[in-house]
Amino acid sequence: MGADLTQEERDYLKKMLPGFPEPKDDEFVHIPPTMEDLEASDLNPKLKEVIKRGRDLFVNTQQLRGKNVFNNMNCSSCHMAEGRRPFAGPVWPAIVTLPDFRGKNGHVNNFEERIVGCFSFSMNGKSPEYGSDDMVAIAAYHQWLAKGVPMYPGVKIYGRGFPKMQDPQEKPTIARGKDKYIKNCSVCHGEDGQGVVQGDHVVFPALWGDNSYNWGSGIVRNFTLATFIRYNMPFGHGGSVSEQDAWDIAQFVNSQERPQDPRYTGDVKETQEKFFKTFHKHTQYANELDGKVLGNHSNTGSKPFLKPELLRPRTFTPSKE
Ligand code: HEC
Ligand code: HEC
Repeated sequence: MGADLTQEERDYLKKMLPGFPEPKDDEFVHIPPTMEDLEASDLNPKLKEVIKRGRDLFVNTQQLRGKNVFNNMNCSSCHMAEGRRPFAGPVWPAIVTLPDFRGKNGHVNNFEERIVGCFSFSMNGKSPEYGSDDMVAIAAYHQWLAKGVPMYPGVKIYGRGFPKMQDPQEKPTIARGKDKYIKNCSVCHGEDGQGVVQGDHVVFPALWGDNSYNWGSGIVRNFTLATFIRYNMPFGHGGSVSEQDAWDIAQFVNSQERPQDPRYTGDVKETQEKFFKTFHKHTQYANELDGKVLGNHSNTGSKPFLKPELLRPRTFTPSKE
């Protein structure tokens, strides 16, 4: 817990997250092990190989381009510092809190199904199969990061996800957001939001358009993107844009077009309604802007399908004895 941290651990967190909120006494803090720790550990060498393969897929997910990934993202494009950093979607909590019910799809998900979600929405693609070598490796990497954390800890986790900030003082506007985007972000992501790609290497990922995340991705929620920006961007200078600026920039970025939500029913209003309570009330999907309805198209970006087969309902009804 926050109250039990050693000075060394506090210093480590401060170095990783300069200017960030410090852990509260009753928050659970976990500092995930590094790849050096892995080398030094006495795990079976074959297991080390699997974990290393998982990390490799996490930071260079582009190697699955055209097979599982159909945009310019790596997992680490959003999950900073190899998925280890608080306030940047640290990934280990999924290992110790799943299986659990997920409002997003209305049934109980285990860890692999969580990963299926990431590939379907954030990577605008389709996941490696359940139980496949790549899936096993990705899971092993996440499990390694959760080393030592008790299962179902039942406490608030410090910096989990992209913790919601206080509501903005002024209602966010696209116009202010655009202005601040040009000043703070366009040098890397481009005025057109398309980022920079050199050969096969994504230098700066795209923030909207065909090569970005789709309308069903978690970061398309304004509050999630605002927190992401506040603590993690501009790259290397997290914490330098104000909360209000982060809200405004998120409003602007999320008012741009991107690939269709894989849950699209063929009608944008109907899709918005179906997933309103659990998701789209936080996004700008199906909102009207300059005479156009956002998301009103059948463009799936560079992937040749709308909905991956692995996104499916489940039922778990025990048989009667
Ligand atoms: C476009 C940004 C983006 C990309 C790319 C992305 N994710 Fe995520 N991820 C998110 C967001 C947003 C959340 C939800 C965080 C929240 O609930 O606040 C999330 C949540 C997660 C979680 C659950 C964490 C928890 O606290 O339970 C895991 C695990 C995860 N992602 C793994 C991955 C993997 C593996 C990949 C690559 C295949 C990936 N993500 C790609 C944005 C992204
Ligand atoms: C110095 C270059 C740089 C600047 C300036 C910068 N970014 Fe980024 N941004 C990056 C890099 C690099 C990544 C991917 C991180 C990684 O792969 O480790 C990224 C990732 C992102 C992502 C997640 C992935 C995606 O493409 O959606 C978002 C959203 C984002 N930046 C928004 C912004 C916003 C908004 C600003 C301005 C406040 C900004 N960035 C300023 C370099 C930059």
